[in-house]
Amino acid sequence: MQATASTPAIPAQSVYAERRAQVARQLGEGGIAIIPTAPEHPRNRDSDFLYRHDSYFYYLTGFTEPNASLVITADGKSTLFCAPKDLAREIWDGYRLGPDAAVPALGVSEAYSVAEQAARMPKMLENRSVVWYPFAIHQGLEGTVAQWLNSVRARTRYGALVPEQQRDLCSVLDEMRLFKDAHEVPILRRAGSISARAHILAMQRSARMLRAGQDVREYHLDAELLQAFREYGSQYPAYGSIVAAGANACVLHYRADAAPIRSGDLVLIDAGCEFDGYASDITRTFPANGKFSGPQRDLYDLVLASQDAAIALARPGKRFNDMHDATVAVLAQGMLDLGLLDKNKVGGVQDVIDKRSYFQFYMHRTGHWMGMDVHDCGSYIEPSELGQTSERRDPLSGELILNRPSRILRPGMLTTIEPGIYVRPADGVPEAFHNIGIRIEDDALITEDGCELLTRGVPVKADEIEALMRDGAARP
Ligand code: GLY
Ligand code: MN
Ligand code: MN
Repeated sequence: MQATASTPAIPAQSVYAERRAQVARQLGEGGIAIIPTAPEHPRNRDSDFLYRHDSYFYYLTGFTEPNASLVITADGKSTLFCAPKDLAREIWDGYRLGPDAAVPALGVSEAYSVAEQAARMPKMLENRSVVWYPFAIHQGLEGTVAQWLNSVRARTRYGALVPEQQRDLCSVLDEMRLFKDAHEVPILRRAGSISARAHILAMQRSARMLRAGQDVREYHLDAELLQAFREYGSQYPAYGSIVAAGANACVLHYRADAAPIRSGDLVLIDAGCEFDGYASDITRTFPANGKFSGPQRDLYDLVLASQDAAIALARPGKRFNDMHDATVAVLAQGMLDLGLLDKNKVGGVQDVIDKRSYFQFYMHRTGHWMGMDVHDCGSYIEPSELGQTSERRDPLSGELILNRPSRILRPGMLTTIEPGIYVRPADGVPEAFHNIGIRIEDDALITEDGCELLTRGVPVKADEIEALMRDGAARP
């Protein structure tokens, strides 16, 4: 159990009450929904991993304690099961809100000790038509629900009705979470600005240490990020930070390690903090010593131009995939222009796109939804066009792929835009580009007439990065 001095302040409960009411309205007559929070995970012996609540549960309660579960019924009633007050345990593990205080603090209709949940659930499920819960998220929940339903079944001879349907609550909650509301946007902005500040400090530290002739390691920059995240109030990183020096940048899931950062290297940092339950996700690639070499700058400007092309399409009415297609078009042309791809072998830009020849250097998608989870929930397919399928054959694998129309962008959606180029040494690839890995990533909130980039507190133009690394200001 993780000891905490106090729970974070619980913000305006009306936001969560309104979200619960929205869920209740979608459950159908006689529906009931069960949403547990995340379990604690042992790390070794009696030490746990740092606790992180379940995002769906938090979205509906604002409650961050473990050992809790929420039940919502179609009539709008909400019941919280939570850890009971226990002064002896609270001395060791920290403050617990407890059921009595939970009702006014969280605005739920009623609250009980979590120890009562197993006994109360069969009665709550009796005479309900549909039971909803998040499928395939909580280990053992399906089995637990089955046990509760069996208890209801045992009472059918006394006239009890058993819910006949079980449905995935994710389909309801994912769609709600996809659209960031007025409560969430300022928190996401704050997460983005803390992370942006952390990136600036890491860049400046790199140049400063190299100027002083010090032995710079990836972990020095990781330490700078962590320091800044905590310094400015974030709770922890939203995901394992990537700090990749030189050729390590070509490993997409590299983690900050101990490799030396040398003058002349590029450093790729993909790191973002989580602030009050909301993630940020930024990548910047910069010259360790503060000055891009010619080939580094050529590739950097190309990736940035591809990101610009995608940002121009991050607006209502465009489709999610339009942003990827735009980056591919720019990168494919650039790969031909810079000689990464030999036009005598691969043909023109349309051939490079059609045959996916660019995939040698750009092998991931351009973005993903972001929010409470760094890879947030939400369908990438346009719900109103689900039935419109088409088939195509993948030019590289030969696999037959079923396509559905990509999601149409609407205000409130939040996506990353993160093109990259990763050049592993290979025959025919100009040596000047070998082992260069570049990614540029920002978080774009779709607005009424375009998008707001939440992460541009850290500059992205090569000249501006060079300027801030020359400057090397100390932390304010
Ligand atoms: N940091 C994870 C990602 O960019 O998707
Ligand atoms: Mn990302
Ligand atoms: Mn990232």
